[in-house]
Amino acid sequence: MIRLQNVSKNYGGRPALTNISLHIALGEFAFLVGPSGAGKSTLMRLLYREEMPTSGNVFIGGVNLNRLHKKQIPLLRRRLGIVFQDYKLLPRQTVFANVAYVLRALGVNEKDVDKRVNSALCVVNLDDKGEAYPDELSGGEQQRVGIARAIVNGPPVLLADEPTGNLDPATSLEIVQLLERISERGTTVLISTHDQPIVNAMRKRVISLRNGEIIADVDSGVYEVGSTG
Ligand SMILES: Nc1ncnc2c1ncn2[C@@H]1O[C@H](COP(=O)(O)OP(=O)(O)O)[C@@H](O)[C@H]1O
Ligand SMILES: [Mg+2]
Repeated sequence: MIRLQNVSKNYGGRPALTNISLHIALGEFAFLVGPSGAGKSTLMRLLYREEMPTSGNVFIGGVNLNRLHKKQIPLLRRRLGIVFQDYKLLPRQTVFANVAYVLRALGVNEKDVDKRVNSALCVVNLDDKGEAYPDELSGGEQQRVGIARAIVNGPPVLLADEPTGNLDPATSLEIVQLLERISERGTTVLISTHDQPIVNAMRKRVISLRNGEIIADVDSGVYEVGSTG
């Protein structure tokens, strides 16, 4: 579902990713770990075509993102759910409206918007908060709104870049367990994080980046800071 072939990315001649090859299968759940500056966000941005590789190929569901025309990018983004560290909610819109935003932009009729938003809010356990505003919610609840927004269109792939970066440990674990439940429904989930306890609690695939290179990729793995590098 996600494939990188010999991908390198330089910023102004400085390498951020070097010769990355990687495959993440349909329905798989994987962590992308590494210290700050390792290249996690760069890799994520390549997957949603916010950036283009300097060399190599990136595929989502068999589509080579290098070959996408600008006007096809919205189509790609519709097939990706993206979750951000800072939630990126619209502050003056209700929870419901935040989650409904994309569907309304796509011209989905209000009856279906209603159904799909309520269903997404149920998945994240916020079906009673639709009329609330983001600043009335805790950080964990705001991130659950971010996740509802990401899944409302039923994307096959969910990307989360440091989704627990602003949350306390207990809330972080809840968020990651929620993402695990979403992957169990058939969604491919990739989470970038440097949160060691969370990764170690989950025993999932762990892809380790260091200085823009993959230094380890193990199933049911742990994140050992300071190991091999
Ligand atoms: N837009 C950019 N312009 C220039 N350098 C960048 C840019 N984004 C990231 N970098 C550099 O690329 C490297 C990897 O950064 P990043 O992908 O943000 O790592 P991480 O998300 O793991 O912290 C770092 O050295 C960073 O300074
Ligand atoms: Mg980052």
